Amino acid sequence: MSKLALLGGSPVRKKAIPWTSTMGEEELSAVTNVMKSGVLSAFLANSGEKFLGGPKVKELEAAFCQRFHSKYAVTVNSATTALHTAVAACGIGPGDEVIVSPYTMVASASAILMNGATPIFVDIDSNTYTLNPEKIEEWITPRTKAILTVNIFGLPSNLPKITEIAKRHNLYVIEDNAQAPGATIDGKEAGTFGDIGVFSLNYHKIIHSGEGGVLVTDNKDLAYRCQLVRNHGEVALDEEGDMETAILGSNYRMSELHAAIGIEQLKKLDGFLNKRRFLADKISGALKNFDGLNGVFVPEGYTHSYYVYPMQYNKSVWGIKRETFALAMKAEGFPLGVGYVKPIYLMNLYKHKRIFNDTKYPFAFINPPTQNYQKDICPVVETMHYETLLNVDICREPFNEINIDEFFEAVQKIWNERDILRKYEKDNLSCP
Ligand SMILES: Cc1ncc(COP(=O)(O)O)c(C=O)c1O
Repeated sequence: MSKLALLGGSPVRKKAIPWTSTMGEEELSAVTNVMKSGVLSAFLANSGEKFLGGPKVKELEAAFCQRFHSKYAVTVNSATTALHTAVAACGIGPGDEVIVSPYTMVASASAILMNGATPIFVDIDSNTYTLNPEKIEEWITPRTKAILTVNIFGLPSNLPKITEIAKRHNLYVIEDNAQAPGATIDGKEAGTFGDIGVFSLNYHKIIHSGEGGVLVTDNKDLAYRCQLVRNHGEVALDEEGDMETAILGSNYRMSELHAAIGIEQLKKLDGFLNKRRFLADKISGALKNFDGLNGVFVPEGYTHSYYVYPMQYNKSVWGIKRETFALAMKAEGFPLGVGYVKPIYLMNLYKHKRIFNDTKYPFAFINPPTQNYQKDICPVVETMHYETLLNVDICREPFNEINIDEFFEAVQKIWNERDILRKYEKDNLSCP
């Protein structure tokens, strides 16, 4: 049976709505001006004035400081390199453990491994999908140096509680805020609760420059260490004869072109967020009419950025598998994300612990290991991923109110015809 023939009649939408760019005349003219200036990058890896980059890089950093009320901002070429930089800046290395969410893009955990430290995965809250503060202290050991919390899908983690726990145990807090620019708790910006916050400017984020990342911090020393990691800092330190803060750097520098685009996109952030929040509210309102599909939960005092709109599917209400529901929605022109990224500790890399040949480095540094990366260590994340979570990506451009109505027309159609899908499941044992 072909996917499109799952339900009768014509699909609500013949084709899924394609991704569109949020680039406008402003970005085009900003890039043109940089091209005309001939200064595509101004970084030099020495302790001179070019160590901190060119005018657009500095302008974007100043704009981030202003928009997010942060004292320092350091641009880099991705959130992945920003995360690596953040962990390095905190002086975290072999023998250290960092608590991290298992439900995130892999870079959040890889940043820990790339610094030679060991990720310790703590379960998430089933309503917010972010680290469950109640579970954190169970996993704190004398080796724990930081909590790397992820503001996933656009919702800030429980940062007041997480920072309070960190303070009590003398730990750093690093916020992976790649998905939640502009989200807030009681008016304070996500990304600015911890010691360092990380933003992404990659092309599928709310604002972007193709690729890019930004670190924000209020701590001068951490900002300096981030600048060192970004630009082969060991060279600069050597020249100044200052090895007190020895740190290994790389080339994580952002080009002037990317910075120029980022400046224009940042100006548009609040407009993008208004639209996303408007569409998300419409989805939440419509979901009240559907049993078996629960909408997003936004705790009191929080605002959400709606990088995606997470829903929870209840199979016992629908009587069909989540995967069948998603297949039928796709056939109606609305592809859904089924779960998110596999819980990270279940990935092969953690199973085999093979990164640097057969040395088992850095895992072998901690013996016996604090965590075995086995199934069931974070039961909530496993339920979300394998049973309930659906990710809906219809709050971004170019979606509009009519598309939200169409989305629910498709949901209603599937609800009305779920007997056909039940039969489909029976007849197609290979159906997911
Ligand atoms: C939560 C999270 N962290 C980190 C990253 C990495 O971002 P980048 O692609 O800018 O390296 C992403 C990107 O998808 C992400 O969603």
